[in-house]
Amino acid sequence: MKYFIVTYGCQMNVHESEKIAGILEKMGYALADTREEADVIVFNTCAIREGAEDRVFGNVGNLKKLKKKKKDLIIIVCGCMTQKSQTAQKLLNTFPFVDIVIGTFNLSKIGYYIEAVKKGRQLEIFDEGEIDESLPYKRTSGENAWVNIMQGCNNFCTYCIVPYVRGREKSRKHENILQEIKEIVKEGKYKKITLLGQNVNSYGKDNKDEISFSELLREICKIDGDFTLSFMTSHPKDLTDDVIDAVAEEDKIEKYIHLPAQSGNDRILKLMNRSYTREKYLSIIKKIREKIPNCRITSDFIVGFPTESEDEFNDTMSLVAEVKYDSIFAFMYSPREGTVASKMDGQIDESVKKTRVNKLLKLEKQLQKERINGN
Ligand code: SAH
Ligand code: SF4
Ligand code: F3S
Repeated sequence: MKYFIVTYGCQMNVHESEKIAGILEKMGYALADTREEADVIVFNTCAIREGAEDRVFGNVGNLKKLKKKKKDLIIIVCGCMTQKSQTAQKLLNTFPFVDIVIGTFNLSKIGYYIEAVKKGRQLEIFDEGEIDESLPYKRTSGENAWVNIMQGCNNFCTYCIVPYVRGREKSRKHENILQEIKEIVKEGKYKKITLLGQNVNSYGKDNKDEISFSELLREICKIDGDFTLSFMTSHPKDLTDDVIDAVAEEDKIEKYIHLPAQSGNDRILKLMNRSYTREKYLSIIKKIREKIPNCRITSDFIVGFPTESEDEFNDTMSLVAEVKYDSIFAFMYSPREGTVASKMDGQIDESVKKTRVNKLLKLEKQLQKERINGN
């Protein structure tokens, strides 16, 4: 019996696929080399932009033939995209041969669902469930071990679907995180540990008895062993001095901060509900550079947010030029159903978004060249 997993989206999903693999291997399944060989195929999906969803529809559709040939094949679609009941319904209507559709909260129970499907049921499950800490991971990222420290997001940036598909922030107990990391270090296979959360800086804030993110970092660094520690993602509004100090002072912490700015224009930042201004953002960058001189800094940007004018886009260009990031990701704004921004007037033409994203990427390339040449 074999399984095959196709993963879309962020590191969070990559790590959750490691949990799915762990569960399936515990059930006796082995990893297949190709989808054709597999008895169970899992699509772990992402909903962040329309393109991500389109690819899932295309790839699931392609399995129709395989399912015809192989009646017992179990097809599972899970993750952020299927946490939205409308999308899940559309998927089931379009592809009735899909066996299991589950959202993000019930992943842990995937084993039970497979057993149920073997008895002849089709399943759709979306209610909120508890995360089962006892389930094994099959780590697949070489020397890097991902460690999830919290679920969800409370920020509701107006363009973003994540709070709707991942729920509110919920921090794992620090004792459990430390225990997991001790075990990872003991195994001796991993040189790098990366903590994951949509906004790691607000770790612990959902529970008054929990330690803060910087305290968590310091505790992890006390664990004996040869490893480096990094984390993602930081939200500029919550990146406090104690976290910057921890990165500066702790030898084990990688001198690297991913600090998504999203835009360089204050009016757009406000419309995005990011809760910081360009000036505040630049002051954080300055602080990082002062305290951690060799720190690598990267960022994400969205171009073509509703009503963004050419001048406002140019503020993003100038921010990128000013900060001189080590690298950036640039995305064309993609309206996500149910979010505030998707209902805003002044949606920008795709062609304008494309021109802007290309300009930004060209600037990034040019800056990178200058960096390599040492200017
Ligand atoms: N929690 C992280 C990242 C979330 S998603 C953070 O707050 O930074 C990763 C990136 O996708 C975001 O930083 C943003 O740049 C981009 N993104 C999110 N929603 C988007 C949308 N609707 N259209 C285009 N890009 C989007
Ligand atoms: Fe989305 Fe904003 Fe939360 Fe990041 S912080 S996941 S961009 S809502
Ligand atoms: Fe990640 Fe995509 Fe979900 S970016 S949290 S997999 S919507």
